[in-house]
Amino acid sequence: MIVTIDGVAASGKSSVASGVARALNIPYLSSGLLYRAATWAALEHGLTLDTPQAGRTLAQLLTGWEERGQPLRLRPLTEGNQVWQAERDLTEHLHTARIDAQVSAAAVLPELRDWVNAQLQGLTPPFLAEGRDMGSTVFPQAERKFYLYATPRVRAERRVLERHQDLESVEAALKLRDERDARQSAPALDAVHIDTGSGTLPEIIAQVMSHLPA
Ligand code: CDP
Repeated sequence: MIVTIDGVAASGKSSVASGVARALNIPYLSSGLLYRAATWAALEHGLTLDTPQAGRTLAQLLTGWEERGQPLRLRPLTEGNQVWQAERDLTEHLHTARIDAQVSAAAVLPELRDWVNAQLQGLTPPFLAEGRDMGSTVFPQAERKFYLYATPRVRAERRVLERHQDLESVEAALKLRDERDARQSAPALDAVHIDTGSGTLPEIIAQVMSHLPA
């Protein structure tokens, strides 16, 4: 079985995905974490993301690591996904305002999207995949698809608890990222839409579960 949960930034995707995956006793895959890790890799290597050759250069960096036996890999742990490169856990570097600000520029590069999609499509179901285009593009065959949304203010109130910034700047950054991510964020036509602004986390998880086979 494949279940997809897509949605806008800070819509609660990861927490809901983790809770649902736990209830179903299957792993969840955070596609966003792979985009964040590739962005981190690009910044570490001084790659400029807004040049015509950026996608090819980033893909070469990632495949170069692969060829040297030091691939960037998602570890889909149910309690929270991690990304490792060889023996190094990169996860703690990936949820920063710096990566938030740059990740959309990397995520529009077709070469990076192909790389992330290949990583995910190489994994064996059952799993729950979480991101922007999991139901529409990467796993169109998924049995159940969900799309989570909430107002920018609700999302900013959530994210401000994780970032050392004021509410207004967090909200402005989220709106900017919504715009930049719009192209790859259209919900799958057959997704169930859920407003995560009204209800507690356990209630939203229960709402998702009510649409899944017992
Ligand atoms: O948790 P949050 O929604 O802030 O972000 P995320 O799920 O970690 O995704 C980070 C970024 O990766 C997004 O802003 C998109 O630019 C990109 N992304 C994407 O393009 N496609 C996906 N399937 C998942 C993430």
